[in-house]
Amino acid sequence: MNQFEKKILISGATKALDYIQSIEMRDVAPSSQALANLQAFDEDLPKRGIDALDTIDFLNEYGSPGTVASNGSRYYGFVIGSSHPAALAANWLASAWDQNAGLGATSPVNAKIETIVEKWIAEILPVANGSSVGFVTGVTMANFCALAAARTAILSNSNWNVEAQGMFGAPPITVVVGEEAHGSLLKALSMLGFGRERVVTIPSDHNGRMRTDLIPALDGQTILCMQAGNVNTGGVDNGSIISHAKSQGAWVHIDGAFGLWAGASTLKKHLTAGYELADSWATDGHKWLNVPYDSGLVICKNGEYLRRAMSMHGDYLDQSGDRIPYHYTPELSRRARAIDMWAVLRTLGAEGIDELITRTCAYAEYLALELQKAGYKVLNEVETNQVLVSFGEETHRVIKEIQSDGTCWCGGTIWKGQPAMRISISSVKTSQHDIKKSLEAMLKVAKGKAVIAE
Ligand SMILES: Cc1ncc(COP(=O)(O)O)c(C=O)c1O
Repeated sequence: MNQFEKKILISGATKALDYIQSIEMRDVAPSSQALANLQAFDEDLPKRGIDALDTIDFLNEYGSPGTVASNGSRYYGFVIGSSHPAALAANWLASAWDQNAGLGATSPVNAKIETIVEKWIAEILPVANGSSVGFVTGVTMANFCALAAARTAILSNSNWNVEAQGMFGAPPITVVVGEEAHGSLLKALSMLGFGRERVVTIPSDHNGRMRTDLIPALDGQTILCMQAGNVNTGGVDNGSIISHAKSQGAWVHIDGAFGLWAGASTLKKHLTAGYELADSWATDGHKWLNVPYDSGLVICKNGEYLRRAMSMHGDYLDQSGDRIPYHYTPELSRRARAIDMWAVLRTLGAEGIDELITRTCAYAEYLALELQKAGYKVLNEVETNQVLVSFGEETHRVIKEIQSDGTCWCGGTIWKGQPAMRISISSVKTSQHDIKKSLEAMLKVAKGKAVIAE
């Protein structure tokens, strides 16, 4: 590497470090000036290249202020974790390696680390021992892969090879979903040819959990899709139905984008009791585990079905080594995303992850209690890390003003017909101090109008 190339890398690394170091000092949302300055990117494609140092300076000058500080400690929007420093550092090193993770031959280290994470995941999450894991972009893809594996399994029992013959004329499959299934699960169903609307929908209870008592008789031609962690309430479907569904021959899939991690917490694992009996699970690294984007896992009890659904052939594709990562994912070439996850799992260990999940759930309970004490209505039963609060007719104003206040960031939703502010505590960086500071800001903003009106 020549001196100039080295300077470019140092410039990027230094700026990245400065960004991380200063993130707590800045407002969570970008300022209106920073947003206006994004116009700087409206350049014509340069005819001749521009100096790389200038490019990195430019990106930092106009790009960094235009970010949302979701990698800080007071971002409670959507379900967004930060990046644990160990994961970020591992990610940087892995980016320097620039490994193509598709084959063992193109990255022996990635293939090795995938097998380790696969083993650790089955130890820490409520999934079947010996499950196979695919490293995908997020739960949208994890749901897709798991449902593809389910389709392969069910149709092969009817001697139908869906990979070869497709869906036209295939024996019908019934898909059962909860009323509160996440949109990404429905999208996965549509991408697989099942249709978003060709499903049996089971009503949910007051906290968005599937009413498992209303599930009809199932059979071997059925996929039952359950959910651990309703995106609004954090509600976790009751897993006690799973053994019954299995005895009827159904394939049970669990979308556990964040809620599956409740199973890693000593205090919360009762919520996911029975989950290990399911057939497939989808979860994210980039939410509660605080792995950088993008990072999701498809987990399948019988890896053979996942491999059949995801695999492909190419005479040039070297099949050497103990693990061929592309057999478990839709992509052939991709980044070595297991490495970031391995770094967090190794750094925190089972106890550290237990602590992270337990602590963030406790913050959610604390916030819910304090908001209630202050006279505001909490709309959900706080089971995990999500709080839904209503400020009555002021809800939209409060959300808008919280976002522009900059102390913290919360988004909005509609829950059972009522507008609500969502508070999702997913960051490993969030401390008690952050929670108190954020609560103060929420109460100040919420009371603002009343004070002015008096
Ligand atoms: C329950 C559930 N499923 C699926 C998803 C989609 O996950 P991703 O954005 O990683 O694709 C989410 C996102 O919040 C979720 O909460």
